[in-house]
Amino acid sequence: MAVDLLLGLQWGDEGKGKIVDVLTKNYDIIARFQGGPNAGHTLEFDGIKHVLHTIPSGIFHPNAVNIVGNGVVIDPVIFKKELDNLVKFDIDILPKLLISRKAHLILPTHRLLDAASEASKGKAKIGSTLKGIGPTYMDKTGRNGIRVGDLEMDDWKEKYRHLADKHEAMIKFYDVDVQYDLNELEVDFFKAVEELKKLTFIDSEEYIYQAQASGKTILAEGAQGSLLDIDFGTYPFVTSSNTTAAGACTGLGVAPNRIGEVLGIFKAYTTRVGSGPFPTELFDEDGKTMARVGNEFGATTGRARRCGWLDLVALKYAVQVNGVTQLMMMKADVLSGFKTLKVCTAYNYKGKTIHHLPYNIEEQNVSPVYTELKGWDKDLTGLSAADELPEALNDYITFLEENLEVPVKIVSVGPDRTQTIYR
Ligand code: GDP
Ligand code: IMO
Ligand code: MG
Repeated sequence: MAVDLLLGLQWGDEGKGKIVDVLTKNYDIIARFQGGPNAGHTLEFDGIKHVLHTIPSGIFHPNAVNIVGNGVVIDPVIFKKELDNLVKFDIDILPKLLISRKAHLILPTHRLLDAASEASKGKAKIGSTLKGIGPTYMDKTGRNGIRVGDLEMDDWKEKYRHLADKHEAMIKFYDVDVQYDLNELEVDFFKAVEELKKLTFIDSEEYIYQAQASGKTILAEGAQGSLLDIDFGTYPFVTSSNTTAAGACTGLGVAPNRIGEVLGIFKAYTTRVGSGPFPTELFDEDGKTMARVGNEFGATTGRARRCGWLDLVALKYAVQVNGVTQLMMMKADVLSGFKTLKVCTAYNYKGKTIHHLPYNIEEQNVSPVYTELKGWDKDLTGLSAADELPEALNDYITFLEENLEVPVKIVSVGPDRTQTIYR
């Protein structure tokens, strides 16, 4: 069977966690392929809200196997907290959660380096989640990293010491005020590593190959969003991994010709957390309404998310780069009550009208060109079937489908599993 992909098409937080949870009933395996605890994936059902950072969002289903792929970076300390949070739900974790030996470890000093790097940038900071993501991927590509599989070797603590010592020298080099007690951080780290070692480590590319060969269905779960991709995002205000479809091939060892459906998720409007350009950002009452009704606060850092109208230029770009075959529109309920909705369909770029995402979308170069559509008043949160959707919402969706040339298959009308409408 082909591997289906599920990806965020904007700047993250589109609602990936919710949809993976909803779709897991159709899959045998859910596999995360990149990112790490910078992600915060929220799931809601039975009146309980769960936030997962590293553990795939299929973990609450009784039969699905969840894999943390080689492209993911794991902080054992955060991972242990996630596991601790699951204890009360009586999940049989051992057979259900498998970790790639090739996944890299986030060390305490990676987190400190992230903080030092951001502090040294001052106003130009990325707005990182400070989880050590950038420094860990830098050590991966620099061929210095420590991987999960190393924990099975006798000499891993020597490797650790060598790398942590080097990091401490680098922190000094930054010449910024980062206070820390490494001994204390290491007590937690080594304790958490022992917990991690209780899980099953696998050669995940082989596992996934065999699973495919035996007809198992697999959904690859992305983290972040396409506009945060290290190559195709709004560089340098991006994360340090490939969040786009190609990242699933390298992050799981799945060949491109084994990819099936590419499910692209977007919010009915746009949000962004952290620094970086955002052409359709709103600073008025409309933006505040989206933030309030949509409860737009980061699931990992609690930071307020910036809000704005839907940007079809950026969305089209993400659809192209990923080869999206089906769209899922989230948070339609948040737009109820707006008289008029705006959708950005082109950019004014250095005096010209353009319809593609240019190299630089900083404010001084780009301003959005909007098309206005009629809003709807109806509260959507109690709806369960496509034929109950208000006409103006159907028109909004049709307008997007015509522009993006991909069908919208799911409309989400609330955070709960059940608030999901299939088209
Ligand atoms: P992810 O990182 O893509 O998994 O998304 P997050 O969990 O960071 O952010 C999405 C937020 O929106 C979470 O708080 C979800 O519970 C919530 N959410 C998801 N879908 C909907 C929806 O259709 N309507 C509303 N109102 N909230 C939603
Ligand atoms: P999920 O999977 C939204 C943003 C950060 C920052 C930039 C770099 O929940 O959608 P990093 O910590 O990776 O060095 O931060 O990327 N960012 C996210 N924004 N959702 C996420 O994940 C994000 N992960 C990172 O805010 O701007
Ligand atoms: Mg999130």
